[in-house]
Amino acid sequence: MALLKIARMGHPVLTRVAEAIDDPTAERVRRLIGHMIETLLDAEGIGLAAPQVHQPLRLILFFDAEEREQAHDRPPIALINPVIEPLDQASEPGWEGCLSIPGLRGVVPRYPRIGYRGLSPDGRIIEREASGLHARVVQHEVDHLDGILYPMRMPDLRQLVFESELRHFVSRIEGAAPEEDTS
Ligand code: NI
Repeated sequence: MALLKIARMGHPVLTRVAEAIDDPTAERVRRLIGHMIETLLDAEGIGLAAPQVHQPLRLILFFDAEEREQAHDRPPIALINPVIEPLDQASEPGWEGCLSIPGLRGVVPRYPRIGYRGLSPDGRIIEREASGLHARVVQHEVDHLDGILYPMRMPDLRQLVFESELRHFVSRIEGAAPEEDTS
């Protein structure tokens, strides 16, 4: 296994549309997932998309936020060619961070409830509903596959702040625990 370099905002790989993976069971995909898991754990993030490690492919990793509350040693879920369906009309604001934008946090509107589907690394269909932080993380990661970084979703850039200044905001905005959601 190896730690991969994480692309930071400004690198073109983060703003292009990633390509679908033809064969989820291919050896190179399996290897990439292994390296991405190592990289995500090392960075202590909650999610990671392949473009963030310079691979323009439709592959994301994420921890199930609720599962993680109970068992910290659960491996992240790998989802290939993911598709999202909103299950709410309205979006809700919440704090997000991103491993490609270190040191910053921002308030981003997301659907509180979604359905998502995609393929597992052994080619099985994964289909689930998610809410709360889990839904937020999956939406954030799928955005990476379409070249979208969270500040591009922000209606109010006054809420794009350094982590050290979060204390001025946290009490006023509901949302994900700000120290937990870097992805
Ligand atoms: Ni991110």
